[in-house]
Amino acid sequence: MPLVARVFVTRQLVGPALERLATAGYQVDLWEAREPPPRRDLVARARQADALLCTLADPIDAAFLDACPHLRVISSCAVGTDNVDLEAARARGIPVGNTPGVLTDATADLAFALLLAAARRLPQTSAAVLNGEWGPWEPAGFLGHDVAGATLGIVGAGRIGTAVAQRAQGFGMEVLTTTSRGGTPLPSLLERSDFVSLHVPLTPQTRGLIGAEQLARMQPTAILVNTARGPVVDTRALIDALHAGRIAGAALDVTDPEPLPVDHPLLHAPNVLVTPHIGSATPRTRARMAELAVDNVLAGLAGEPLPHPVAP
Ligand code: GLV
Repeated sequence: MPLVARVFVTRQLVGPALERLATAGYQVDLWEAREPPPRRDLVARARQADALLCTLADPIDAAFLDACPHLRVISSCAVGTDNVDLEAARARGIPVGNTPGVLTDATADLAFALLLAAARRLPQTSAAVLNGEWGPWEPAGFLGHDVAGATLGIVGAGRIGTAVAQRAQGFGMEVLTTTSRGGTPLPSLLERSDFVSLHVPLTPQTRGLIGAEQLARMQPTAILVNTARGPVVDTRALIDALHAGRIAGAALDVTDPEPLPVDHPLLHAPNVLVTPHIGSATPRTRARMAELAVDNVLAGLAGEPLPHPVAP
């Protein structure tokens, strides 16, 4: 191992945060490509590193950790850490950090943008204009769904879910929430909501949380919004529900699989709006995430508690 501690950074980040690693005297090994490092490169480069600064696109499992015996800290530039085997890291004494808080507003804004776009059918109506289908104004043309006065069910009222609820109040919506400490039980929330927005982390308990049975409970006029993680929804069940008209639409920033191939049946189901996992994608938010990720690396290499630790 080199005398100077080495940090493997798996992607170029937004803003100047990485400069602080070099300023602190660390050797920065940056993966320059736009695509994430393939597994072989991820292991080959990380096995020589003392710290890993990764993204949600890098799977960090027990086998990876066994191949990288020098790692002293894993810092993920994301709030969701489902790509990291937290228990395996804990068992090896490697602290894991993430970037909570700084992306709450950007992600809540996007959830609300998806809700509004799906409600008022912006993708379909914009496509109609481009296709020359904009005829004379008609009373029953291009009808969407009311937002004011509608009920929004928020599944998972943590930081982001709570920020979505605040936005919904400004739009005159009634808000129902499920929380780990109570709130509205999920079946009742699904039955009563005009819009359902998902804000739970992906864990073994939430994988497939919204499947055929849950979709069947939703109203045929209801719209599902997902800015959490794709596998929280059973993709096949969602495609079937959209084709059968069991729900009115889905607006998804996250999908399973991700990225979604252009010929994937989900993209061709009726009333689907998909964005490419852009919840935190503003320059200010991404730069703040990079700063928090670097803070975690610096603390981990100094042997100090991480400022933004993730508990298994
Ligand atoms: C984005 O999905 C994140 O977890 O930061």
